[in-house]
Amino acid sequence: MTLLDVKKVSKVYADGTVALKDVTFQIEKGEFIVVIGPSGAGKSTLLRSINRLVDSTSGEIVFKNEDIMKVRSSKLRKLRREVGMIFQGFNLVERTSVINNVLHGRLGYMNSFKGFFSLFSERDKQEAKQLLHRVGLGSQMYKRADELSGGQQQRVGIARAIAQKPDLILADEPIASLDPVSSETIMEHLYTICQEDGIACLCNLHQVDVAKKYANRIIGIHAGEKVFDGKPEELTDEMIELIYHGTQKENANEKELEKEKEKEMVS
Ligand SMILES: Nc1ncnc2c1ncn2[C@@H]1O[C@H](COP(=O)(O)OP(=O)(O)OP(=O)(O)O)[C@@H](O)[C@H]1O
Ligand SMILES: [Mg+2]
Repeated sequence: MTLLDVKKVSKVYADGTVALKDVTFQIEKGEFIVVIGPSGAGKSTLLRSINRLVDSTSGEIVFKNEDIMKVRSSKLRKLRREVGMIFQGFNLVERTSVINNVLHGRLGYMNSFKGFFSLFSERDKQEAKQLLHRVGLGSQMYKRADELSGGQQQRVGIARAIAQKPDLILADEPIASLDPVSSETIMEHLYTICQEDGIACLCNLHQVDVAKKYANRIIGIHAGEKVFDGKPEELTDEMIELIYHGTQKENANEKELEKEKEKEMVS
């Protein structure tokens, strides 16, 4: 079943920057897709257009048969709870407990009165606890969020996103501020939970090796355009060169030759 249908989406920011050009792809239920590309390629813009933090300039984005560009008020609220977000900087409420941060994932389901007074149901609380156990933070529930390490905070970020019971998770460089070991833990948790719960994930990453390890499918973006969409094993060195430098194979070889010559000069 197609969960998300992105059709010829372009984004031109107010200052004229073209961040996305005619980007088209679909996401099926439960797919784990990693988006790679150089800085400024448009990865964040792509994710933000999907949950309407950014309004795309043209094209169509259909999520669960709903044209997301047209949704307003209650339908926008529904979209925001069905699409979970995980951020590079974790975006936790630092001065409140870990479990309360996870419970914040339930706010989209509550009326504003209950939400304002944090009147979470017993069931929500039990589920939040279970989620924290799943990400290995069962013993940290009542600590203040800012007492945790970066890697632990991001695990809270994952638990909060899952508490929303989303169909799709958008993760914008979830491991960019973490060390390699914490990064590995985060990717394992994110991947495993998404697979177990049948949640699709679109994850921006800078690390090609991590992308290859976890992705069912990789999308490569260069200067706002999708230049690669395939299985990890199809991501050859030439393709990586194309994604990161926008050069075709011949040029890539030229670059290699240049590098070789440079090496010869200094050796
Ligand atoms: N609010 C904005 N106004 C104008 N231009 C913007 C805005 N946000 C992003 N851009 C520009 O749009 C382009 C794409 O930016 P985007 O943040 O989507 O790239 P990215 O692939 O996520 O980069 P990075 O890997 O550095 O996070 C860049 O040229 C950026 O400068
Ligand atoms: Mg970005």
